[in-house]
Amino acid sequence: MDYVIEMLNIVKEFPGIRANDDITLQLKRGEIHALLGENGAGKSTLMSVLFGLYQPDSGCIKKDGKAVSINNPNDANALGIGMVHQHFKLVHNFTVLENIILGVETVQGGVLRMDEARRKVVELSEKYHLKVDPDAKIEDITVGMQQRVEILKMLYRDNEVLIFDEPTAVLTPQEIDELMKIMRGLTEEGKSILFITHKLNEIMAVADRCSVLRKGRYIGTVDVASTTKEEMSEMMVGRKVSFAVEKSESHPGADALIVRNLTVRSAHQAKPAVSDVSFTVRKGEILCIAGIDGNGQSELVHALSGLTAPEKGQIFMNGEEITRLSIRRRNDKGLSHIPEDRHRHGLVLDYSLAENMILKNYHKPGFQKFGFLDFRRMREWTDDLIGRFDIRSGQGAKTITRSMSGGNQQKAIVAREITINPDVLIAVQPTRGLDVGAIEYIHQQLVAARDAGKAVLLVSLELDEVMNLSDRILVMFEGQIVADVRPDEITVQELGLYMAGSKRRNA
Ligand SMILES: Nc1ncnc2c1ncn2[C@@H]1O[C@H](COP(=O)(O)OP(=O)(O)O)[C@@H](O)[C@H]1O
Ligand SMILES: [Mg+2]
Repeated sequence: MDYVIEMLNIVKEFPGIRANDDITLQLKRGEIHALLGENGAGKSTLMSVLFGLYQPDSGCIKKDGKAVSINNPNDANALGIGMVHQHFKLVHNFTVLENIILGVETVQGGVLRMDEARRKVVELSEKYHLKVDPDAKIEDITVGMQQRVEILKMLYRDNEVLIFDEPTAVLTPQEIDELMKIMRGLTEEGKSILFITHKLNEIMAVADRCSVLRKGRYIGTVDVASTTKEEMSEMMVGRKVSFAVEKSESHPGADALIVRNLTVRSAHQAKPAVSDVSFTVRKGEILCIAGIDGNGQSELVHALSGLTAPEKGQIFMNGEEITRLSIRRRNDKGLSHIPEDRHRHGLVLDYSLAENMILKNYHKPGFQKFGFLDFRRMREWTDDLIGRFDIRSGQGAKTITRSMSGGNQQKAIVAREITINPDVLIAVQPTRGLDVGAIEYIHQQLVAARDAGKAVLLVSLELDEVMNLSDRILVMFEGQIVADVRPDEITVQELGLYMAGSKRRNA
């Protein structure tokens, strides 16, 4: 068999956890090989071993059938192995072109050959349909374009084995389609791809084979064409998973959150990000704001949570105006928020898991004794959440959250925000980057919060999530609400049309 890469019996340990426990992975030349596993299953660790970021404790890597040692990313590069990381590693105040050639600049007679580099980059970007502006600064371009820069970086180095670590987690549906096409184009040119994703639809659409990891162990490899999504998710989670959300008819009660004529403008923008938006979320319902990323959802949520002040309009919670209250005051009045950017607004990454879990209620009775934090109570509280939400980490309550995998960081935030027992819960993409088992649990928790009489405002980019979970849907387009519909009266296709702005139905 023609394997370009073989990772044989790889073991990698971190303090308190065996992240890779005897994993074998064989990549055929020219295939797209998906790597599937729950959050924390060990996928990124395995790929980091292949890319030379970690040394395995045991096991062997072969390239073209010959054992190789990969001590650092330069070794990987020399072997033609490139990686697009889960969190991009670009230099923000450099241009696209500068980032692509960083570290492999061609120098002739002491002069940097920029023109030649530019020619090669333009050529590659045309050949693979990777649209970029070579002179734009990284800080000014979209996440989708940043990712194309990362891909061009690999191609510029003539890499033939391409590792994509959850590339679609940060992309819009349109960008995801685009990336799938690019990946297929790359394999037609003879490249081999390792593709990490949680989305079974993406695996079905693009992958030839799929290897499954569970809790650091290798479970098996299947041919995608002859396997179902249900079979793959069962391999991944170890039990059957339900894709449909079980919920009964909603029984909405009193108005909990009222938004009236809200307009939000960012400092340097001429057009408001949110323009004269009004809606009401009632107790006992899940109201979903659907829309393509960047249509004002983030700015709306920032104004609701108190991160920014709106230019015009009012926000009421339980009959009381909160438009100008601080974040803390809003929290104390019963507002909780699962934020979009979990690194910036969700966790203090250098704090322990326990400290993060009480971030919003440490000043309340129960967590303090004689004015000091009650550490035993904190640990018990955290251990309970770890168990209920299946939050995986090396060292339990005392794990520093920075070392946790992205999905488990996400689960920790969701656990904290749901369990502070809010009146109004704003959940922004609560399941982004999570595996199907975790998504199922979080959906159940949101429905349970609704059934307990909470008002839930869900902001989601995932059509399936919107259709499955919401009782009512508002579609945002260019800062305005363009549709107010119920999921049972429209199709996914129709919802897509509203999201794209080609159809309107006003509230
Ligand atoms: N640098 C590290 N230090 C300590 N623990 C780590 C480190 N990297 C990963 N881990 C742990 O190893 C396990 C596997 O993580 P990871 O490979 O990131 O999972 P995945 O990519 O499948 O979500 C997780 O429990 C994670 O907390
Ligand atoms: Mg990962």
